[in-house]
Amino acid sequence: MAIHQFDASEAARLEQHYAIPVIVEQRRRTLEALAARPGERILDVGCGPGFLTADIAALVGPTGRVCAFDTADPMVEAGRRRCAAMPNVEVQKADARKMPYPDASFDAVVAAQVYLFIPELDAALQELRRVLVPGGRAIVLDTDWGSTVWSSRDPARMARVRDSWKQRYADAHIGRALPGALRRAGFVVERAEAVAIVELTATEQDYGGGQLKEVAKYIAARPGEIAREADAWKEDVLALTQTGDYFFSLNRYLVVARKPG
Ligand SMILES: C[S@@+](CC[C@H](N)C(=O)[O-])C[C@H]1O[C@@H](n2cnc3c(N)ncnc32)[C@H](O)[C@@H]1O
Repeated sequence: MAIHQFDASEAARLEQHYAIPVIVEQRRRTLEALAARPGERILDVGCGPGFLTADIAALVGPTGRVCAFDTADPMVEAGRRRCAAMPNVEVQKADARKMPYPDASFDAVVAAQVYLFIPELDAALQELRRVLVPGGRAIVLDTDWGSTVWSSRDPARMARVRDSWKQRYADAHIGRALPGALRRAGFVVERAEAVAIVELTATEQDYGGGQLKEVAKYIAARPGEIAREADAWKEDVLALTQTGDYFFSLNRYLVVARKPG
């Protein structure tokens, strides 16, 4: 297990990556589910570079408040930069497993692509419930890498690469686990939706196109035989873009839950 670390180079990469169309659409779907209203107090867990934080701040307006936090210093800095002109936003360094907020501080919480990286999911969800007001809503979005369909002329190698990549996460299959884990933490789960990606090209503006490089880089640094498969795997997938046979698909799952009133 080598859970991904969010360092300065990753923060710089995410500045570009979070502007691609499928991530913009992911934010739109997350905001739609959150349905933030003027004056609300909202928490953004694991805010990263703060794109979602800034969008929420605009929705709650000057009478509302957005608190955002992240464990990684480069992300806290990026989030603060992005929201510098927004007096209703506070970005700080903190951990989702032990949050620096009093009980019942927020009307709603949002956590997008964060719990994938946290080994103690149950403890983190207990914290999420603690900081919500009774009746408050939680919007949680995470990827399930078990939903991946990625064309390859060597399916056995594709499976080895995918299995190695899953080590990057505390739980690469967290999408399917979220509803049950939220119920165990005392939430009422109202609904779950897929936020699907389906791509036929692998450009820099495609999610799979960017992941191709990230997966190859990660695999190449893994111990053992798999490291030697990284280049051949990447070339095989890229060759499919030349013949018109490229296909990439992956689901993120958006879960809407509520703390009982
Ligand atoms: C993939 S990014 C998602 C960023 C943001 N939520 C978004 O969707 O735009 C994951 C973020 O979770 C943060 N993270 C990982 N473990 C965390 C923890 N235990 N507590 C708070 N943040 C954490 C990482 O530092 C990183 O910025």
